[in-house]
Amino acid sequence: MSVIILGIESSCDETSASVISDGTLLSNVIAGQEVHRKYGGVVPELASRAHQQNIVPVVDTALSDAGIGRDQVTAVGFTRGPGLMGSLLVGTSFSKGFALSLNIPLIEVNHLQAHILVHFIKEHGVSIAQPAFPFICLLVSGGHTQLVIVKNHLSMEIAGQTIDDAAGEAFDKCAKLMGLPYPGGPWIDKYAREGDPKAFFFPRPSVGGLDYSFSGLKTSFLYFLRDREKESPGFIKENINDLCASLQYTIVQILMYNLDRLVFDTGITEVALAGGVAANSGLRNAVGEYGKRNKWRVYIPKPVYTTDNAAMIAITAYYKYLQGAWSAQDVTPEARFGFCSG
Ligand code: KG4
Ligand code: ZN
Repeated sequence: MSVIILGIESSCDETSASVISDGTLLSNVIAGQEVHRKYGGVVPELASRAHQQNIVPVVDTALSDAGIGRDQVTAVGFTRGPGLMGSLLVGTSFSKGFALSLNIPLIEVNHLQAHILVHFIKEHGVSIAQPAFPFICLLVSGGHTQLVIVKNHLSMEIAGQTIDDAAGEAFDKCAKLMGLPYPGGPWIDKYAREGDPKAFFFPRPSVGGLDYSFSGLKTSFLYFLRDREKESPGFIKENINDLCASLQYTIVQILMYNLDRLVFDTGITEVALAGGVAANSGLRNAVGEYGKRNKWRVYIPKPVYTTDNAAMIAITAYYKYLQGAWSAQDVTPEARFGFCSG
């Protein structure tokens, strides 16, 4: 009998549900939340209300897109954390009710581990190479920036991480300084395509080991824009392409420097990207080029699997199901959920 997993994601501002059968995707429905745009960032209270409205129709659509009835679902996987508490509560409570009413296993999933496991989602009629263990994953999202050594599906070790802002946060905060809408990462990516990445220079931070830091870049970008606007009002508008290209180039260089060092130190040449910032064209190209030059095998997820989605929750729950790693009904969401390590 097939193992059919319903995955639920509600950690931030996307309500998503997905059905996966024996590791193969049947559906992946994502409802974004436009309501935050005018505030320039996610408003937690509004996010949880929107999840509450979206979750039932999103799950119904995911099941009907997959052609699966509720009684055919083997287990339900949900994001336990990290994320916004009010948002996580909606997905957690829904999943508990769903599992209890059907008397099926409930499986908690770490959102970050799930971002990494998108590389194992199979699709009908598509053959996608999967990374071999151990591999290195650069996980770059709005809330996290980590270099992870992935030993197997459920055993991962953090080799380096940001000591302040995440890479996605750096994109979004700098975009806000230029007056771009939220989330700013995709906008910077768009304007950067038309700009010169070497037009402006921004300093790289020096942090010990394999850790990252992005708060200094944001501050120097702020002062740079303020000074240039004072000298010549309209500077940002006139130079938006070059500003975006130079900023993106700097962030990508910072990310690549430690990734390259970790590959060198460990000798592991299977290299994957994951998380929302993995949608960035500059980063995708840079990893591809480093890979070609240094004989790495590179794995870059499809754009839809980079930002938050429930297919990644379902695939992680699938591997946990195979190991019997089920949760009790009294499980609670964790806003700061420790990354699985071992
Ligand atoms: O993984 P994700 O959907 O949510 C979190 O778990 O944080 O990542 C969202 C982040 C945002 O900061 C967004 O600006 C960034 O990913 N992002 C991008 C691009 N697409 C999304 N950053 C740069 N370039 C992009 N194309
Ligand atoms: Zn995420």
